[in-house]
Amino acid sequence: MCGIVGFTGRREASPILLEGLRRLEYRGYDSAGMITGTGNELHLRKKAGRLAELGKLVAAHPAPGCYGISHTRWATHGGATDRNAHPHLDATGNIALVHNGVIENFAPLKHQLQAAGVQFRSDTDTEVLAQLVGHYYHGDLTAAVRQALTLVKGTYGIAVMARREPGVIVGARLGSPLVIGVGADGTYLASDANALAGYADKVVYLNDRQICSLSGAEWEIRDQDLSPVSASVQDIAPFLGEGDAERGDYPHYMLKEIYEQPETVANAMRGRLDDADATAHFGGLNLDAKDLRQVDRVIMTACGTSYHAGLVGEYLFEELARLPVEVEYASEFRYRNPPIDRHTVVLAITQSGETADTLAALRESKRMGHTTLAICNAVGSSIAREACGGVYLHAGPEIGVASTKAFTSQCTVLSMLALYLGRTRHLSSIQGQRIIGELRALPDAIRRTLECHDRVKRIAEKYADMTNCLYLGRQYLYPGALEGALKLKEISYIHAEGYPAAEMKHGPIALVDEHCPSVFLVPRGNVFDKVMSNMQEIKARGGPVIAVKSEGDEEVAAVADDVIPVPDVPEYLQPIVTAIPLQLLAYEIAVLRGCDVDKPRNLAKSVTVE
Ligand code: AGP
Repeated sequence: MCGIVGFTGRREASPILLEGLRRLEYRGYDSAGMITGTGNELHLRKKAGRLAELGKLVAAHPAPGCYGISHTRWATHGGATDRNAHPHLDATGNIALVHNGVIENFAPLKHQLQAAGVQFRSDTDTEVLAQLVGHYYHGDLTAAVRQALTLVKGTYGIAVMARREPGVIVGARLGSPLVIGVGADGTYLASDANALAGYADKVVYLNDRQICSLSGAEWEIRDQDLSPVSASVQDIAPFLGEGDAERGDYPHYMLKEIYEQPETVANAMRGRLDDADATAHFGGLNLDAKDLRQVDRVIMTACGTSYHAGLVGEYLFEELARLPVEVEYASEFRYRNPPIDRHTVVLAITQSGETADTLAALRESKRMGHTTLAICNAVGSSIAREACGGVYLHAGPEIGVASTKAFTSQCTVLSMLALYLGRTRHLSSIQGQRIIGELRALPDAIRRTLECHDRVKRIAEKYADMTNCLYLGRQYLYPGALEGALKLKEISYIHAEGYPAAEMKHGPIALVDEHCPSVFLVPRGNVFDKVMSNMQEIKARGGPVIAVKSEGDEEVAAVADDVIPVPDVPEYLQPIVTAIPLQLLAYEIAVLRGCDVDKPRNLAKSVTVE
């Protein structure tokens, strides 16, 4: 999704803006731009394509000045062209604006402005906002921004400058994150605190319908009526340090994040497993055991990989806590009106904490008076701040667009939540102790699983040219199959579908021939024999089989064409361990196909538009 970086202070703005956008590159974009100011002059530079193209333009035509705003754009209205790139100016050239989000009523507003004689230069919804601010500008930028926003329907996170107010940057947000950074050399504005790592010492998160104004070292926040608002100033989160977001000696962030998983899963559990009480504890749930005993139903809502983690959570909560669970795509749930009683908890699962549909589903649940929880990775994100309580993943920044370590950490947190809920119900302390021991052994199991990498590389070479692939698993490994298929789809662009293994007989098996391999998740478990039968059915039709199996299992090796061994873990932890080889398989195939592994085409790291 789009990124915003602004600065006003005592240093040249241009290098800060470029470095800030570089830190946000992982979010996905297709054009970039900036504007800086010296006195009453503005210097606009913007370019379609990668950030490097903007860097070349600025090197050839410097943008001087100690204040400026910048943007990486993921096209929503209008193609990825130089003229559609942000910033956008108003007709007088006095106002410059960058925008994350979607102005849903941009068309009628544009027609009104055109009827008043305003000439537009781009196809974007954002330019409408810039023209509106220019229309209402009479010497007070904050007032003009507020006035313009009263006409807007949709979502926005914006940064605005006026040539006639040198050094001033105004920001505002509704549904798209914005954070103020306070540093020794001035003040910053960004859509993601990661852009401020190493620059700002403190951060102040804006809430919806708030407007901020920055000038040099000064900043203030007002509500939509322009009444001053006090805000909490926080230390910038430690994991935002510059080193955390660097790739190290890995060729891609995704590979680094796959290999981080023994540590990130350990971090998810750190300080949360309680041997004495044979349970798990969470500091931020804001619900105690008494509250949770009242819960008789959980609705998990998420998108993409986080939705798959929710499906794992459904099996976990049913088995360990005997709690009924529904898992809903957030984009569907937010418009449904399901009968939910007061003992239902809505649990949002998200890595970024900014996914528009998940945020909207959370807000709708809150509007209906339900208790809401969130499992989230991004500290201080909108969903993390707006849920009644929740659990952070502590996985560190996930830069690769394809989610890997967030998935295994989400499943780990869900396992601990299921333990906690189970221990408030029917799980004995003996059972609790056993589960704690199994969780503590998980990082080592993942470390051992990573040893399959060379074998996966050889398998990837064999199947890199396939055009279709089925992923099949049962019970806990049905969501694992869905997640494995999504990984392959999103970074190698090969069509892949995950199914419950038995379900392939109800249609998908028609796809099976020598050109359509099937990946089976078939470690030892209660339904092992059933999955073996499904594997035979595929083989009988000439379909190649890649099997993720238990170490030492010769029965599978006798049937499958290729096998990937994984350590034995309890069934409820198998989705975590079997995710590793599937992540590596997708990664190695994508590399062989020359795909952009960290920034796959058409995708964004955080989908902050609906
Ligand atoms: C996963 O690999 C994708 N990048 C995508 O499906 C992602 O999981 C989805 O957009 C949800 O994002 P969130 O976890 O940040 O809410």
